[in-house]
Amino acid sequence: ISTKFYDFKVQTRSVTKLCHSKDIVTINGMFPGPVIYAEEGDGIIVKVTNESPFNITIHWHGVRQTLSCWFDGPSYITQCPIQSGQTFTYKFTFVKQKGTFFWHAHVSWLRATVYGALIVYPKTGVPYPFKYPFQEHIIILGEYWLKDVVQLDRATIASGGSPPPADAFTINGHPGPNYNCSNNDVYKIDAIQGKTYLWRLIHAGLNAENFFAIANHKLTIVEVDAEYTKPFITDRVMLGPGQTMNVLVTADQPIGRYSMAMGPYMSAKGVKFQNISSIAYFEYSGAVLNSLSLTPKLPSFNDNLAVKTVMDGLKSLNLVNLPKETDTILFVTVGLNVQKCHSKTPKQNCQGLNNGVMAASMNNISFVKPKISVLEAYYKKINGSFTEDFPEVPLEFYDFVNGAPNNIPNNTESLNGTRTIVLEYGTRVQLILQDTGTVSTENHPIHLHGYSFYVVGYGSGNYDPQTANFNLVDPPYMNTIGVPVGGWAAVRFVADNPGVWFMHCHLDIHQSWGLGTAIIVKNGKGDLQTLPHPPTDLPRC
Ligand code: C2O
Repeated sequence: ISTKFYDFKVQTRSVTKLCHSKDIVTINGMFPGPVIYAEEGDGIIVKVTNESPFNITIHWHGVRQTLSCWFDGPSYITQCPIQSGQTFTYKFTFVKQKGTFFWHAHVSWLRATVYGALIVYPKTGVPYPFKYPFQEHIIILGEYWLKDVVQLDRATIASGGSPPPADAFTINGHPGPNYNCSNNDVYKIDAIQGKTYLWRLIHAGLNAENFFAIANHKLTIVEVDAEYTKPFITDRVMLGPGQTMNVLVTADQPIGRYSMAMGPYMSAKGVKFQNISSIAYFEYSGAVLNSLSLTPKLPSFNDNLAVKTVMDGLKSLNLVNLPKETDTILFVTVGLNVQKCHSKTPKQNCQGLNNGVMAASMNNISFVKPKISVLEAYYKKINGSFTEDFPEVPLEFYDFVNGAPNNIPNNTESLNGTRTIVLEYGTRVQLILQDTGTVSTENHPIHLHGYSFYVVGYGSGNYDPQTANFNLVDPPYMNTIGVPVGGWAAVRFVADNPGVWFMHCHLDIHQSWGLGTAIIVKNGKGDLQTLPHPPTDLPRC
């Protein structure tokens, strides 16, 4: 066990992709950013110096930040942004955590170029639950934009309508041969016939969920969201933004060059997307390269069944934190909606559906980020920045005793607010996430900071307690759950990590539209249950 130090300089740098040069925001000039390596139990110190003109924060996605909420990173939730010229040092420990994580910017849409892998190995001598393969590789799925992403975020919100699709999907920053000027801008993994590889898949993209597959090879899933799973063999997987997955791949085919592909999964009617795949190569040593590479067949963009089949295959190997009973049920609708344009709204801001403004909400509340972080306001008891009245259960719509599955509200005409959920320390929570929406229903990758949760159930249609089937035997332990299109997911966790934790859709446009809220977990008794004081260099707003 040791403490590792990393120096992160936020810098803009010019890159040329898709025949265009532009400045992108990077860490230390790298795209994708530097990889952080550690061991379970290690501490980490990352000094972030902002040499760019943009406000920034860094989030350590999937790291539970046990008693270290101040270093979690979501802007205006746990900290104010690090302004141009400022420095902030993140310090935290991998408490009982190992696996594939990633770090990313958590301000506006800067995650588009500010992301990198964070790999935590088991303690020395602790074996993997599978035979450790010959080699491992990091594969980060992303989206590349030719426009300035911060401006694009602002312009989309100002228009009231939907954003354009990304200009390219990317694998480790490379679009691959399906895109303009990108025949040589393609990622390649060298393989030796007969060997097995561990691929650490990370979805860092912004506004699309994606299928991923490799021609003629099977994928064996062994870990999701940095928790081991029972091995599950599949032809393809689906990852939403915020999800990570480890798969084993054996080079068991004739010598050749095989393509892996990342293509869109999107059932949304309202959000545009681009039906082109990013391609990378898996090239056997000895392959003859004038022949075409074999391309995998990906499911079509609305293949919900393909998504469910992978989800059904995820079974946890770690059940130590699973609450068999729960103390409270939170029922939260997630979805898109439209807010009416009022007489005072400028005309140019009414380009959403039905001449309204696009919005997204949880229980009809579109989350508005406050002026100082929720955590700071909560800790220092500063009034006026947030309220504690998140509408916990829309009881007027939902009858838990008899089940009233058709009365779930459609997130009509959501209200704006910074309304939080408050939980007593130690509460055993069952959270039901229900997809809904007046605009369209779609799969929302809902991510919870500060915790992993057990996905004990999910299904199509409206949640009905009478018929819902729960798995309390081996549910997957995740931090981001794709709530099925027009369906529901039930997750469980024990609220034993005090702090303020963002819960939001990991599709950035939905986050910008307000699909999120903050959960405040109060202190318990004693030092090991109490949030520490804020660090002295915490950025000011
Ligand atoms: Cu990767 Cu708030 O998330």
